[in-house]
Amino acid sequence: MARAKIALIGAGNIGGTLAHLAAVKELGDVVMFDIADGLPQGKALDIAESGPSEGFDAAMSGTSDYADIAGADVCIVTAGVARKPGMSRDDLLGINLKVMKSVGEGIAAHAPNAFVICITNPLDAMVWALREFSGLPHEKVCGMAGVLDSARFRHFLAEEFNVSMRDVTAFVLGGHGDTMVPLTRYSTVAGIPLPDMVEMGWTTQEKLDAIVQRTRDGGAEIVGLLKTGSAFYAPATSAIEMAEAYLKDQKRVLPCAAYVDGAYGLNGFYVGVPTVIGAGGVEKVVEISMNKDEQAMFDNSVNAVKGLVEACKGIDGSL
Ligand code: APR
Repeated sequence: MARAKIALIGAGNIGGTLAHLAAVKELGDVVMFDIADGLPQGKALDIAESGPSEGFDAAMSGTSDYADIAGADVCIVTAGVARKPGMSRDDLLGINLKVMKSVGEGIAAHAPNAFVICITNPLDAMVWALREFSGLPHEKVCGMAGVLDSARFRHFLAEEFNVSMRDVTAFVLGGHGDTMVPLTRYSTVAGIPLPDMVEMGWTTQEKLDAIVQRTRDGGAEIVGLLKTGSAFYAPATSAIEMAEAYLKDQKRVLPCAAYVDGAYGLNGFYVGVPTVIGAGGVEKVVEISMNKDEQAMFDNSVNAVKGLVEACKGIDGSL
């Protein structure tokens, strides 16, 4: 069977890491697209030259011509401007909305059958705009946020409990931002819900609350440390997990920014929810029951995303 084709739109920090991971995991041949002259070609060549040592078979190429993404099975979009210190995700809105228009049109023209994973921030609004501009089916366009947010949550929890992160599951809902909703009731250590871990004396409610807040601020914490850019290793790894679920029809249950139409009382709206990802793209939105407090946090998050979408409509009248 022919190798899958993976198009990476944006060859910056996340794009380069995506390319390297896709190659090392032999998920398929990789085409990196960027408007920066020489950048995608340079990174593609550099990664290709790591092939003999690592021992992977995957063709790597770089381009500034959308025609070269033709027939891609997966497109992962990181094109745009990354958050700088002091800049909120929302500040990025105007700049990255224009980028989504050109990317959406490029994908629609050359890779209309691809599974598209958007990473560009502000994520929930950008994935919605990208879907609108591309016109692809809703189940084939989603955003990467929840996998990263829950990975951060799992990392902090594993550190707190001094156990392997493999035995920690975490559940995060809502928009990717300060209003995200980490759900402790649905997060576990080897199946033991976090509130039970507090009762068992493994941690305190105060410590758990601090971890939840650190998870919400996870992106900003990295920006503050790096000073010249935002996180890229973990975001790239998270998106690769989603791409692999699609390419291998794994039916993974992963949280992502998905189009929700009917579930959670939403009508046609992109927000972070648990989904099943397989060969059909986002095959299912999993609707969980929430208590009053959780519902209030989720509603707050949805309203924040709605505000961003409205702002996009204000900027681009065609939306
Ligand atoms: N088309 C294609 N590529 C573009 C376009 C465009 N219209 N505009 C910008 N780019 C490219 C830039 O040239 C740059 O190489 O997008 C790349 C972005 O890379 P970085 O600045 O290194 O940003 P990165 O850290 O990869 O993050 C990308 O993901 O998490 C989000 O907030 C983050 O929105 C940001 C995105």
